[in-house]
Amino acid sequence: MTTQIKIVGLGGSASRRSSSTLAIENVLAGARNAGAAVVSMDVQTLALPMYEYGPTPSEVEPLVDAVRSAHGMVWCSPLYHGSISGAFKNAIDWLQLLSNDDPPYLSGKVIALVATAGGDQALQAINTMEFIVRALRGWTLPLTAPISRADAAFDEQGVPHDQRLGERLYTIGHELVQAAQTLAK
Ligand SMILES: Cc1cc2nc3c(=O)[nH]c(=O)nc-3n(C[C@H](O)[C@H](O)[C@H](O)COP(=O)(O)O)c2cc1C
Repeated sequence: MTTQIKIVGLGGSASRRSSSTLAIENVLAGARNAGAAVVSMDVQTLALPMYEYGPTPSEVEPLVDAVRSAHGMVWCSPLYHGSISGAFKNAIDWLQLLSNDDPPYLSGKVIALVATAGGDQALQAINTMEFIVRALRGWTLPLTAPISRADAAFDEQGVPHDQRLGERLYTIGHELVQAAQTLAK
């Protein structure tokens, strides 16, 4: 019997209508179509406390449990001042709770990277996230989606205006599942 691949989306922002969250939903649609079970976790709903040492706050447990059981993830942070957002980094910092797992952190998991930006430099957030995945011993999917001028990228239904962007996000979802299946063997 083959295990169903589980993909967790992580990202978003404090915006009422976050383009980062919409981007994640588009990737997860592709992953779902490829047969994965998908879970979306956005930083606004998670409302995590700032990382600190000590007992684990109850608000953090759903994130850590979801990531621990995931075969793959899609991350999407907005570009804030040339880097990832503080809220996204704080969520990642809580993955320190996976440090004593065997294997630790994101070992054996594949991470797809997507970023949104008001301007043209969304790739900067992708590059930052790539360093983080490496630090956490995960694998990055080669295909990424830096989304420039993201504030106008999606329609009211959350569909990208640019069909090529829609296809790219959907393809990332598919490739994420294929890569997760390969790593799970
Ligand atoms: C605090 C802050 C800093 C930002 N810094 C940048 C930046 O350095 N470069 C840029 O292109 N856009 C910047 N933006 C714009 C966001 O990257 C852009 O609006 C993004 O799509 C927001 O994602 P969201 O819709 O998920 O909130 C910034 C926005 C905020 C609120």
